[in-house]
Amino acid sequence: MNKNLAAGLKGRSFLTLKDFTPDEILYYLDLAAELKAKKKAGELHDRFRGKNIALIFEKTSTRTRCSFEVAAHDLGMGSTYLDDLVSQIGKKESIADTARVLGRMYDGIEYRGYGQEIVEELARYAGVPVWNGLTNEYHPTQMLADMLTIREHFGRLKGIRLAYLGDARYNMGNSLMITCAKLGIHFTACTSRKYFPDPALVKQCEEFAAASQATIRLTEDAWEGTSQADVLYTDVWVSMGEPDEVWAERIHDLTPYCVTRELMEHAGSQAVFLHCLPAFHDLKTKIGKEMGERFGLTHMEVSDEVFEGERSLVFEEAENRMHTIKAVMAASLGW
Ligand code: CP
Ligand code: NVA
Repeated sequence: MNKNLAAGLKGRSFLTLKDFTPDEILYYLDLAAELKAKKKAGELHDRFRGKNIALIFEKTSTRTRCSFEVAAHDLGMGSTYLDDLVSQIGKKESIADTARVLGRMYDGIEYRGYGQEIVEELARYAGVPVWNGLTNEYHPTQMLADMLTIREHFGRLKGIRLAYLGDARYNMGNSLMITCAKLGIHFTACTSRKYFPDPALVKQCEEFAAASQATIRLTEDAWEGTSQADVLYTDVWVSMGEPDEVWAERIHDLTPYCVTRELMEHAGSQAVFLHCLPAFHDLKTKIGKEMGERFGLTHMEVSDEVFEGERSLVFEEAENRMHTIKAVMAASLGW
């Protein structure tokens, strides 16, 4: 492991991958792979005994929360889960005050919630590393899991072609475009023009891409955009915190970008499927069932056949959330 990179990441917050160099991102992936191997071998790596972390969740979570809790435990640390029902956050206490209180008790703080400015304010005041567990704009810990999964499958990242289908203006579309651009992965957003990412972010990513020999493409043509793609990636069409009223419009606008068997076959036999999860691939959820009945659907962003198919790596990807989140915490605390 490169000592200079490790020194540069110690004490750092993890708010968006825009803040990190390609080498730093690759360092996180290498550390995650090392920690994953230790876990698989049953080798204890509880180097941070005596440390504690706080987990703030203003939105719900399965993977991210469990990853932080399991990873903290594996590293020897204690953790406290806080949400807006059980804590004072937001209602009676500002983010700046919360940050200064938690920063005196904990060695690191995870935050999942709404605007990116909130996690940035938390990091400004906490005095300890803050890790972004998802905001409206970015989902950087998810990116490390996705990149580790792609690298494990293809043996490389540079030159891979990734097509993202769905709402490309939100956390997943933004973060994938940034990460691909930094790491030399060709990124295509396939979606209706209304859901294209912010032009200022596209411009910034084009600069990252110029340095890594990646390309960035935005297209409304799902067929053309996924041709020869190595990775077809999608996300829910309505994100946490968005009003229920937008479902009808999203289903109308984004149905042409559903990942189907035909689209996977068209991409080619090399293509794999990724999804950050949770996914509406059948009607076995409350919202899935409701939307299925209202709009006559059997699935939304991905067909059940693709989700369950042999080219789907979604559960490897979900497992990698834990190994990569562990790497982020370990690097911040000085592995
Ligand atoms: N992918 C992801 O962040 O999942 P959770 O919402 O369950 O944490
Ligand atoms: N775009 C989704 C990602 C969930 C991991 C959301 O914000 O709800």
